[in-house]
Amino acid sequence: MYRSLRAVETGRSKPDAVAIALFEKTSKLPGAYASIDRAAGGAVSAMLGRGEFSAGRGSLTTVYPAGGKGASRVFILGLGDRDKFTSEAVRVAAARLLRAAFSAKMRRVEAQLEAGVERRLSLEDLGRAIGDGAAIANFEFDAFKGSARGNGGTKSAAPAIGLDLIAQTAVRRGIEHGLRVGESVNLTRTLAATPPNIAHPGYLVDQARRMAKKVGLRCSIIDAAKAKSLGMGGLLAVGAAGSHPPALIVLEHKPARTRGKGPILLVGKAVTFDTGGYSIKPADGMDKMKYDKCGGMAVIGAMHAIASLKLPVHVVGLIPAAENMIAANAYRPGDIITFCNGVTSEITNTDAEGRLILADALAWGTRTYKPAAVVDLATLTGGVVVALGPYCAGCFCRDTKFRGHLFDASDHSGERLWHLPLWDEHRAQIKATHGDILNSAGRDAHPIQGAAFLSYFIEPDGKTRMPETPWAHLDIAGVADTKKDSPPYAVGPTGFGVRLLVRAIETWK
Ligand code: BES
Ligand code: MN
Ligand code: MN
Repeated sequence: MYRSLRAVETGRSKPDAVAIALFEKTSKLPGAYASIDRAAGGAVSAMLGRGEFSAGRGSLTTVYPAGGKGASRVFILGLGDRDKFTSEAVRVAAARLLRAAFSAKMRRVEAQLEAGVERRLSLEDLGRAIGDGAAIANFEFDAFKGSARGNGGTKSAAPAIGLDLIAQTAVRRGIEHGLRVGESVNLTRTLAATPPNIAHPGYLVDQARRMAKKVGLRCSIIDAAKAKSLGMGGLLAVGAAGSHPPALIVLEHKPARTRGKGPILLVGKAVTFDTGGYSIKPADGMDKMKYDKCGGMAVIGAMHAIASLKLPVHVVGLIPAAENMIAANAYRPGDIITFCNGVTSEITNTDAEGRLILADALAWGTRTYKPAAVVDLATLTGGVVVALGPYCAGCFCRDTKFRGHLFDASDHSGERLWHLPLWDEHRAQIKATHGDILNSAGRDAHPIQGAAFLSYFIEPDGKTRMPETPWAHLDIAGVADTKKDSPPYAVGPTGFGVRLLVRAIETWK
């Protein structure tokens, strides 16, 4: 359930509260907040003068003006250290503001965060960070809350209270944009949180079709029969034991007028549940493997945003979807499978399945669309979580220009990336005895083996040498979901990648 959020122009209606933002250790109220302070009868500057609060990042201090003719509350949002300021501090502040406004049942809040942020962010980008931060904080996955949680077994009947975010024009436009992108992030989170007994490959196909129709994307499906005729041995092997057949979802955004070289190909791993197969995972934590579809769900969310914002770039999204299950017809360690580009792989571990479904999608997608750039997102390895933790995704990209482009987008979106290497040695490391490549060659550099494996499927020559196409592989295993509630993110899927991809495509030339 989401409450409705709107961006409204300043001056139209009187707010229930005004929110301002300050950096840590601010002792003097910035001039731009003088009129708010005056309307509050000097309560804000008095508060500051007492030095009782510090405006730490994510803090919220409420001032209740005794008299004055302004709003009955002033929220002071902390932006933290001035020297460490990024748009993420605004997102966190917006999330705190939203939670406070909701718990006080407010209808209208005026956001005046400009003075705090000074010239460090354009007003448009300030608005975007407020908007997407607010939208992300406005997410609750309650579709499966049942009668024990007061839902009477039916959908929540609680009235959806809306909130208006009031802001000056330039910021308001940014907020509107951010709210829309945030909706796409929440679509990704909803699909990602949907449990594996519901969200099987066929369910994702239906959801993708519905979404595509709504926003005007082309959607086609390569079903198991078609995959067989195309020789997609990876997708079919991984999906063999699932009670729902695997599929490759194709979403295409092809506007009449396009800008920049295209198309851009986005590919996301959607293993709807990963038992590990015969190389079975330990029971502990296996339930979290419903999140093994997060890369694919990020591509669905990004395509949703790209189409609703009508971005003038040709983009194709591919989502290979399969259940990695165990049954008599499951694939085995020792099997040798052939992908649609003729490359063969000797299976050493059925738990290294993500690369197998990505391989067919990448090989088919690059051959069919001849993309100018490729990004794949996948919860590919536990190894990247060991290496980088829940703080950033691993980014494998040898093209310095394209990598710079993605890192710029990441700076804006706050979804952090960390560059990891991919060398010829890693390609050599996975050479097989009886097939071309192993799907896993043990623990050494194992997140990089994943990238090395995928490098065989990016271009026709990729079979014999490192591909040159601008291509980035993002291993999002550590960031796709969070175990900690930290505004703006609730526990569960984060939608990592959606905002990053949208920004990268918006700024594509
Ligand atoms: N889906 C997992 C990776 C994963 C692990 C994601 C933990 C999120 C949290 C992937 O399919 C997997 O099982 N990878 C193996 C690969 C290994 C067998 C080479 C891994 O990382 O252990
Ligand atoms: Mn696995
Ligand atoms: Mn997996």
